Amino acid sequence: MVGSELAGSASHALHPPEPPPSPPAALPPSEADLLLLAQLDLDQAFATCPFTFIGSSHSPSPGQGASPGQGAPQVVTTPERVYSGDQADLLPNAETARRLLLSALSRLKPLPPSPLRASLLSKTESLLAYAASLLSAPAPLPPASLPPALRSTRILPHSSFPALHSSLSALLFARWSSPPHPPLHLLHTLPHPPSAPPLCPALLSSLRVSGARLPPKWSRLLKPGKRGRQGHIRSFRASPEYGAFLEAYRRFVCEEVAPLVGDARGVVYQCPPTLRVVVPSGRAAGKPHRDLDYPGHERTEINFWVPLVRVSGSSALHLESAAGVGDCGPAELGPGEMLRFNGMELLHHTRANETGSTRVSFDLRVIPRSYWRNDFGGKMGDYDVEFAVPPPPLSG
Ligand SMILES: [Fe+2]
Repeated sequence: MVGSELAGSASHALHPPEPPPSPPAALPPSEADLLLLAQLDLDQAFATCPFTFIGSSHSPSPGQGASPGQGAPQVVTTPERVYSGDQADLLPNAETARRLLLSALSRLKPLPPSPLRASLLSKTESLLAYAASLLSAPAPLPPASLPPALRSTRILPHSSFPALHSSLSALLFARWSSPPHPPLHLLHTLPHPPSAPPLCPALLSSLRVSGARLPPKWSRLLKPGKRGRQGHIRSFRASPEYGAFLEAYRRFVCEEVAPLVGDARGVVYQCPPTLRVVVPSGRAAGKPHRDLDYPGHERTEINFWVPLVRVSGSSALHLESAAGVGDCGPAELGPGEMLRFNGMELLHHTRANETGSTRVSFDLRVIPRSYWRNDFGGKMGDYDVEFAVPPPPLSG
């Protein structure tokens, strides 16, 4: 072993290793390279909103700036007449576009004059001026409080009850009960088939809160954060019944809620809504609160509470008559009615439902589009938001 090491050492001394080849000297980018890179920067800036819309008949010209509400609509979901955002929501990307344009400018300026350079330089400088105008003149913040007319508590009629009721009934009875189904308010009278938990997690949770004896294997669907529960929620949201309910809900917001709010720019609203199922029991599921007690809420939110069954006494929502008064009482509503109230500031809660009837309801929050600050990155509490504008008036 030692001889071998000595021999190796001697051989190394006689033949020193070749130095690694030095990398070829980097060639400076050619004029063609720089023109191409500038073009790529420019293309990327164009692909970054809001420049995407330059040239459309709705868009501001470069250098003119933009104000909220201008620009081609960005379709959020279908049908586009109903749910659309607008270019103003994309303004933060102007800063990204500006950086790309400055990069293009730095590539172009040192180059010798040529028709292509002149063309790219002209586009770049024009768009830079436009980006500067967007960034230097941000839209004024919306008002911080709503008009008093939108702040009063009101029971309002709506005509979406049949569509909401039928889609929600199909959702609640799916995979659990064969037709004919009992009325929704008697849902709790159904026996629990051990092999088929309800599709709807809110219904399953309500059965658990009520103290009903449930098959042991359903318990894995009820533990927050566990895979069983997550999978249950995923299959619920992927079901055609849930899709049909959401479609009815979106139409309800567009056709019933948005016109009531009275903002020509429409409303920003929570989607999906908060679905609640409360079977009769001696236990309350929530506690008195104001929505502002929880994170993620803007002060200009308006609450709508929509029962799908008659609610009275302990099955109704209880709320204050004025902020800070503390006199929470029930808001009694029938089918086809909804409650508008200031849930941000009014104390409200539900009680243990001791009426003998299941309560089925959903609730949502909306903000008039002109009052939305987007303080929470497109969220309203824990929920995503969508846009809705009222349908145009019928002609003739
Ligand atoms: Fe609330």
